[in-house]
Formats: sequence, C-alpha cells, structure tokens
Amino acid sequence: APVTTPDPSNCGSSTDLADGVKDLDCCPPSTNNVKPFLKPRVRKAAQSLDKEYIEKYKEAVALMKALPDDDPRSFKQQAGVHCAYCTGGYDQLGLPVELQVHFSWLFFPFHRFYLYFHERILGSLIKDPDFALPFWNYDAPQGMEIPKIFTDKSSSLYDAFRDGRHQPPTLVELDYNDVEPTISREKIIQSNLSVMYRQVVSGARTPLLFFGQPYRSGSNPSPGMGTVENIPHNSIHLWTGDPNQSNRIDMGTFFSAARDPIFYAHHANVDRFWSIWKSLGEKRQDIKDKDFLNASFVFYDENGEAVRVYVKDCLDTRALGYVYDDTVPIPWLKTPP
Ligand code: C2O
Repeated sequence: APVTTPDPSNCGSSTDLADGVKDLDCCPPSTNNVKPFLKPRVRKAAQSLDKEYIEKYKEAVALMKALPDDDPRSFKQQAGVHCAYCTGGYDQLGLPVELQVHFSWLFFPFHRFYLYFHERILGSLIKDPDFALPFWNYDAPQGMEIPKIFTDKSSSLYDAFRDGRHQPPTLVELDYNDVEPTISREKIIQSNLSVMYRQVVSGARTPLLFFGQPYRSGSNPSPGMGTVENIPHNSIHLWTGDPNQSNRIDMGTFFSAARDPIFYAHHANVDRFWSIWKSLGEKRQDIKDKDFLNASFVFYDENGEAVRVYVKDCLDTRALGYVYDDTVPIPWLKTPP
C-alpha cells in the first residue's frame, strides 16, 4: 500500500534531531479539514437538480444574457460562436476552405470545448468556480421530456421557439424524423433505449464509427458523421425546434440552435455519451491520429480573451475539471434492440 499523508491534526515535536538541537517544533497549524486537491465539477441530470442550484443556473444565464451584445462572453456572442463554426463563418487557417465542425470527427471535441468555456463563463458570472452545467438525461426514462427548468416562461432558461407539441409530458423520440409517434409511452421508452444501445454500443465499435470520418487540413467539410451525431444528436435538435418558424429555429438549425439555453444541456448529454462510450472498452478509445489530436479551435474564455485549444487537451474531462454524475442509471447499456 502507498504511504498515506499524515493526519494534520496530529503533529508533535520532532524526534529526529541533528546534534545540538533540542525541542524542535516545526508543526504547521493543526486542522481536521483536509480538502481534495483536484475536485471536479459534477454535471448533474437536469431533472434532479435542487432548488438552490436551479436558482444559481438561472441567475448565471440571466447575467450572461444581460452582458452587452459585443462582450464575447454574452449569451448572444456565445450563440454566435456556434453559428460561426458551422455556417461558413470561418475558413481553415491559411486556406480558402470553409470550416465546419459538424459531420466529421471534429464534432465531439469542438462541442466539448464549447461547453467548457460556456460553463466557465457562467461560473465566473456568479462567482462560483464549481458551477457545472446540467445534462438533459433523455437517454433514461426519467429524463425523456423537456426538463421542467427549461419550460418556465419567466425563466432565463426559457426559449419561445420550440415545438409546442413536444412540451412535457410528451416523450422525446430519440430517432425522431418529423413524424409524430402513434405508439404507447412504454413503447417509446423501449424504442429510445434500443436506439441508445445501437448508437453507442453495438453500432459504434470503432473510433471512426463513433466520432465520424477524418477531416484534415485542406479537405472538404462534412466527410461524414458518427453514429451519435446523427441520432440522437440531430434528431433531438429537430424534435425541439419550432416547426412553425422558418428553418425550425431555434434548435432545429445550426445558426440559431445555441440561442436556446437547452442547447447546452442537450450537448452536455451528448458529451456524456463520449465518456460512457470510452468506458465500454475494447476498441472504443479516442482517435490517435495526429490530425485529430492537433486540430484546434479558438474560444473566448471567462475573461473575454481568445484562447486556442487543441483536441488532444480535451480527451479527459477530469483534465478540464469536470465529470458526469455517475450515480445516474444508464438503462440502455444492456438493452439490445
Ligand atoms: Cu453544433 Cu448540436 O450542434
């Protein structure tokens, strides 16, 4: 067993003294209160948050929305960052080739970093460095509706441009394809669990199946998406957006999706699937190709400063300071379709 650090409430005078030294007491102040060195922020399921957390989250988003539009930390600019990265707002550095962060292996790392900075900005606005985003737990029966925190019209987490037919208690359909289901609630739940098993477990046995196709400097955008990016990621966007608006804004189209606060909870769950997938073992490991690991993005941090980040730095959520609540059941891990 390893050497264990001492009990800092129990230090006595030194016994191992050099010649001629007597009665040496070098004890630091005694304490019983020892903190962990690295304490990750814990992202929790949106349906099980306590009142205090909900108030904090609402306040953080309200403060973000209240920042001047030209502040890179503002909600408007946050949504704009997502828009710029997926509608041809940027070219690849030094190349006249459009950059696109969807439909390729950049999908997971881009959105992981994107949420990371969003979370850090929210935390800094409420002066709570431990603040963690919630995740929309639509892969489990208890989370298969729009979480209540997002449906309160008076809240900063509300967005008017959502599908009116899909408000609670309507269940989400993870492979939604613009057709309303006619099957029972039990059948929808079963089908959702099967979809999860297929997209994360049986259908994603190799890295490229899960992450999506290689996308390298100079190559054309959108070489092909991974299983989860397609379903449930894209289908949840479609299911949530407002079909009475053109382009199904907000969630139903890339340029406006991140204007809806639920976007970040949706993507936290997608990001969680990356962690779960890796825990399944065998070939389910991060891509080792250098063109994946060294791909980079620029985001604005909680000080409003631009930071260049590399994919290789986001593979371990603990290195980014957060984990997902692992007490939340994952009922689809063993539900073969
Ligand atoms: Cu960048 Cu869910 O999309």
